[in-house]
Amino acid sequence: MDDPDIAENLVDALVLPDGSPNLRPVHAIGIGASGFFVASEVARDYCVAEHFQGARIPVTVRFSNGSGSAVQHDGWSDVRGMATRFHLSQDAATDLIAMTLPEFFTPTAETFLDFAKTARPASFSRESPWRKILDMLLLTLPMRNPYPGETVRPDEGAMRFADRNGYAQLAVFQAASIGAPVSYVRATYHAVHTFIVTAPDGARRWVRFTWQPIAGVLTTDPKATPCDRYLQKDLHDRLDKGPACFSLMMSIGEAGDDFNDPSRPWPPHRARVMMGTLTLVAVPEDQVANCERLSFNPWLLTKGIEPSDDPVLRVRHEAYEISSKRRGGAPCAFSRS
Ligand code: HEM
Repeated sequence: MDDPDIAENLVDALVLPDGSPNLRPVHAIGIGASGFFVASEVARDYCVAEHFQGARIPVTVRFSNGSGSAVQHDGWSDVRGMATRFHLSQDAATDLIAMTLPEFFTPTAETFLDFAKTARPASFSRESPWRKILDMLLLTLPMRNPYPGETVRPDEGAMRFADRNGYAQLAVFQAASIGAPVSYVRATYHAVHTFIVTAPDGARRWVRFTWQPIAGVLTTDPKATPCDRYLQKDLHDRLDKGPACFSLMMSIGEAGDDFNDPSRPWPPHRARVMMGTLTLVAVPEDQVANCERLSFNPWLLTKGIEPSDDPVLRVRHEAYEISSKRRGGAPCAFSRS
C-alpha cells in the first residue's frame, strides 16, 4: 500500500454529516441477536476450524442498515449487514462480516477511497415530469422519486464513478436497486472476500461464504413500507415466537477465479458446501453491550481459516480498529488473543 494513512483516510471519508461520532460511520443503525451455530456433517471434512467440528457454538450477531446516517430509515433502499461472532473455547472468537451485496464496489483500498469521496450523498429532488419524458426519449431510466424526507443520496456520485470505472458497475447497479428486506432474517448476506480454509488432510481451498435465510428472501416495495422503523420490532416479534435460522454456504473457487478482487463475481455454478446452521433465539436486552459497543473485524479469524491476499480485506483490519476506537467501542478481540 502506497499511502501509510490509507485506513485512517478511509474512515474519514466514510463519515457523513448526519452520522454520529458515537455510532459506526457506516452501518450505523443496528440490532444485536444471540443464538448458536452447529456445523453440518461435512463441514469438518473441509475445514479444521473449531466452529466447523460439530459442537454447538454460541454466536452474537449484529444486523444493520448500511447507511452511516444516524436517522433510521428501514424502508429505504439500502444494503444491510450481518456481522457474526462465533464464541470459541478459551475466550477465543472468530468473526464473519457479511452484507446483502454479493460483490464490493472496488478491487483495492485506494480505489475505494476514490469511490467513497465521489459517492458522498448529494442533494436529490424529484425530477419534473418533462425531465422524465426527456429521459425516456434518450433511452435513460428516469430517476426514482425521493422517499418522504429524503433530500440527499449517494447514487449519482456512485453512478458517475461506475461510468468511469467498469469494475464498480456490478455493485453500484445492485446497490441502487437493492430495496428493503421485510425482515433482517429474510435476506441473503455475502462475506464477499475470498478466504482460505484448510482441511484435515492439509488441502487448502479458496472459498467465499454466504448466509442463506431458511425462511427465504423477501424484499418490500420501499414505497409500500408502513413505517421507517420496522426491522428491529420485526426481529423482536419473530424471535419471541420462535427461532430464525440461516444456512452457511461455502462456494469453492477454481483455477481462473479471482481470489483477491472482491468486486469480481465467481461463476454461479461453483461447488457449494453447506457448512452449518445458525439459529437465532433472542434479542439481548442490553443492546449497548451486545450490539453497539461490539467491535467486529473481518481479520479476526481462527486456525483453519486464513485471509486471502485481497487488499480490501487487508485494509479493513486497521480501518475497523480505528473506527471502533473513535466511537468508544469495546477493544477489538485481537487484544485478548
Ligand atoms: C475498504 C473497504 C471497507 C472499509 C474501509 C469499511 C469500513 C467500515 C467501518 C469503518 C465500519 C465500522 C466499524 C466499527 O466501527 O466497528 C464498517 C462496518 C461494517 N462493514 Fe465495512 N468497510 C469496508 C468493506 C466492507 C465489505 C467488503 C463488507 C461486506 C462484507 C462490509 C460490511 C460491513 C458491515 C456489515 C459492517 C457493520 C459491522 C458491525 O455490525 O459492527 N464492509 N465498515
